[in-house]
Amino acid sequence: MRETEQKAAEAYEKQFGGEPDLIASAPGRINLIGEHTDYNGGFVLPCAIDRRIAVAVGKGEGGLYSADFEEAREPDEKNGSWADYPRGVAWAMGEAGHEIKPFEAAFAGDVPLGSGLSSSAAIEAATALALDAHFGLDIGRKDLAVLCQRAENDYVGVASGIMDQFASLLCEAGTALLVDCRSLEAKCVPLDLAAAGLTLIVCDTRVERGLADTGYNDRRSTCERAARTLGIEELRDAGEGDLNRLSGEELKRARHVVSENARVLEAVEALKNNDFHEFGRLMYASHASLRDDYEVSTPELDTFVQTAEQHGAKGARLTGAGFGGCAIALVPEPRTDVVTKACEQAFAQANFKDPAFYEFVPAAGAELAENPG
Ligand code: GLA
Repeated sequence: MRETEQKAAEAYEKQFGGEPDLIASAPGRINLIGEHTDYNGGFVLPCAIDRRIAVAVGKGEGGLYSADFEEAREPDEKNGSWADYPRGVAWAMGEAGHEIKPFEAAFAGDVPLGSGLSSSAAIEAATALALDAHFGLDIGRKDLAVLCQRAENDYVGVASGIMDQFASLLCEAGTALLVDCRSLEAKCVPLDLAAAGLTLIVCDTRVERGLADTGYNDRRSTCERAARTLGIEELRDAGEGDLNRLSGEELKRARHVVSENARVLEAVEALKNNDFHEFGRLMYASHASLRDDYEVSTPELDTFVQTAEQHGAKGARLTGAGFGGCAIALVPEPRTDVVTKACEQAFAQANFKDPAFYEFVPAAGAELAENPG
């Protein structure tokens, strides 16, 4: 059993007494390329990270407990806390016609919170997989991901797309996941960074993002407006030739979405050919587009990307929604320390907060752990 799973089991025993019936865990994610494309019906290429949230579930009166917050919560009183995510998942399952009886659940995790690595999708996905098994629902991973998104959109009240929940539930170790966010077709793409002599560095700029109260919703509605102006259902259907019919913000946002969708497909080709030079070039181009056209970067994210490039990274870009949070860089293994040290210096010089760095290998998606009993 993983450490987080063990911790969730222990927390369950401490809080509710007895052993849980089952334990599940689900990872956070980074996105390699394909940003702000999911809610436009486009393509994304995330991969799961080896940081997870685990949940231990059993029968009982009903109750939720977090080992990380050392906090117990009632099962069905929405209150703006971490507990709204599992509550939202149980609610979405009920709305979809599944019978959800009272249950007890204890959570423990090591996904950094609030830094754009999708701790919310991880807790949703772990809950969904655990409840699916606990109640014998047999829902299937894609449908579970859709229910998790419903929980986030309609219960928690954050208008996110489908990428994070798909990544958490469907990624496999050693691969990235190409998702067509319109058809919901998903394909694993092998990503053997070690064989290519590369490290994936994640830089947490430690600038807090709040999806709900930042420009995320504003970007979404500009995209919808641009699609209406073009007379199409979603920007997925737009091509470069359509862009001259747009102007101002609609043009800039649409130009990002159209070019980003093309980059995702090119990036998948590059991976298939083991062409990390081309893959890196596409990462830099994605960042420039997010910075200049989509306008979701920050000075910290730009500084990381620029410094990584100056010190030999093959590619770098912000990952996730932007407005703070994390950026990633693909770095030749021997240059890893050089890049992180140079970034620390650049951040100090600019009077930014000290960044945090993680190295990730593409990890497994949500899983049930062995029954502890
Ligand atoms: C957040 C959302 C995702 C996606 C990204 C931007 O992570 O949760 O659905 O829209 O931003 O690519």
